[in-house]
Amino acid sequence: MLRTHTCGELRMEHVGTPVSLCGWVQRVRDKGGLIWIDLRDRYGITQLLLEEGKTAPAAIELARSAGREFVVKAVGEVIERKSKNPNLPTGEVEIRIDGLEVLNPAKLPPFLIEDDTDGGDDLRMRFRYLDLRRNTVRKNLELRHKMAQQTRLYMDGQSFIEVETPVLIKSTPEGARDFVVPSRMNPGEFYALPQSPQTFKQLLMVSGFDRYYQIVKCFRDEDLRADRQPEFTQIDCEMSFVTQEDILQMFEGLIRHLFKQVIGVELAEVPRMSYADAMKLYGSDKPDTRFGMPFVELKGTFDTVDLTSGRNFGLFDAAGIVVGINAKGCADYTRKQIDELTEWIKRPQVGAKGLIYVRYNTDGTIKSSVDKFYSEEDLKHWVVRFQAEPGDLLLILAGDTAKTRKQLNELRLEMGSRLGLRDPGRFSSLWVLDFPLLEWSEEENRWFAMHHPFTSPKPEDIPLLETDPGSVRANAYDLVINGTEVGGGSIRIFQKELQSKMFDILGFSPEEARAQFGFLLDAFEYGAPPHGGIAFGFDRLCSIFGGADSIRDYIAFPKNNSGRDVMIDSPAGISPAQLNELQIAVVKK
Ligand code: AMO
Repeated sequence: MLRTHTCGELRMEHVGTPVSLCGWVQRVRDKGGLIWIDLRDRYGITQLLLEEGKTAPAAIELARSAGREFVVKAVGEVIERKSKNPNLPTGEVEIRIDGLEVLNPAKLPPFLIEDDTDGGDDLRMRFRYLDLRRNTVRKNLELRHKMAQQTRLYMDGQSFIEVETPVLIKSTPEGARDFVVPSRMNPGEFYALPQSPQTFKQLLMVSGFDRYYQIVKCFRDEDLRADRQPEFTQIDCEMSFVTQEDILQMFEGLIRHLFKQVIGVELAEVPRMSYADAMKLYGSDKPDTRFGMPFVELKGTFDTVDLTSGRNFGLFDAAGIVVGINAKGCADYTRKQIDELTEWIKRPQVGAKGLIYVRYNTDGTIKSSVDKFYSEEDLKHWVVRFQAEPGDLLLILAGDTAKTRKQLNELRLEMGSRLGLRDPGRFSSLWVLDFPLLEWSEEENRWFAMHHPFTSPKPEDIPLLETDPGSVRANAYDLVINGTEVGGGSIRIFQKELQSKMFDILGFSPEEARAQFGFLLDAFEYGAPPHGGIAFGFDRLCSIFGGADSIRDYIAFPKNNSGRDVMIDSPAGISPAQLNELQIAVVKK
């Protein structure tokens, strides 16, 4: 070994020990007679001391010429420091150097390898291997490692077996586009990279594996956001002979275990809410429940008495829904602040037409932006419905039901952020249950599976498949933490007839269903057990545990928002010879 210890290891008890350390030069401080070098590796930083007159002149010369990020080996003795650094675990000692060796010089890095770096996003991604030297990024990957270890520990403890499924497969419809890979040996034919191992894990249940899991890469060619990467990792799980309740219990157990073991948090029992209630209360199937601020309808779809009619206010009269939130204690918002919120909500990303407000002043008076139509007496009924108190501000939107709920969801999250109610160090989880089985696509004029085509309808809703498919509920569930969907799954269809019927509803002809999923339909005829499962977004879990917004920080070599790896410069063209071999002709637009 080139070293006896790491740079994070030495303490007072090592004083007097001869040591040899290797690492990167973080900083050199030359005070004339004394030179200090901060030597860094993955484990920490240790201070080296060189003294003119005492240390070998060759070592002094090397120290003076060593630049940032040089890789060096230092040999010396551990001594007690004169001025100790309580902020550093090794801060009580330093190494009096006898010999210094440059193992490899380094060019000046393009940005500071410090917690507070001067490197912009692009530059750091281009030199990601340098970025990964920084404490903050390295810690994120250490957290990820712990998450994976603890996941395996829990799953193994529950008799799950980790099985690898293939990466070159045929497309599984999960709602996103597939990445495809041409096959040289089968010209004109393509593999698809898995969007998830869904059908394989179901086949493993038919094989009798009973409890499967896999920490697995998945690939989806979809638009990217802070919580989406084209290749990402799932904790993918499946169980046989279970009910939905069994799955919820088992995986609530996993999440609790991870919170406890990885970040020392005791997660409260995970509350449950139906999809319908989540939409009604928060306008979202993944509400951030770190704060309340539920939707209140003045005119709506949930049996509420309409408090807006009869006042000739065209906007409200024409609206499918009039719904708002109570921004507690915000009655003193200035005109400017409200105008700014109005502008915010009118941005194309949110797309609302306008914002109506009601100020419940601390003196008990009520003023609104619709005073022309609604008397203070009317508004009194509104504040009662909102359970508002003096000092509160009601923010109200009106319009098409689905769109308005979506817009108010955005406004609620924004107000939550502005009011400091979304602390990343606090965790609030939620099971969302009873998702609709199907959703209608106006564009394609057909039903789509809301989760995926293998999700089973609730048995009591099966007759509705014929009459009112939109109202059929699925045995499907999502786990939401702090407003992020971290996992989703379902109890599966395991009978051939029902699966064929589902394909039929989704617009597959029997021939198409057979061509795409014949293997699964066949398998269901050879003793398929009832089964169900779930998959967690591993990167998302890591970023939530770390209190970060973007999953990129938890992926060693992520892609940017255009799906590019700017370090290796991919995707890239391939040579004409390769194209030829694959029998692919590139058509230039
Ligand atoms: P689903 O499509 O809901 O279910 O995916 C499961 C979880 O994976 C995460 N996720 C992503 N994370 C990062 N980048 C992405 N592009 C991305 N897409 C999804 C989310 C999501 O909750 N086979 C089913 C699971 C099952 O039914 O068992 C599936 O893949 O956190």
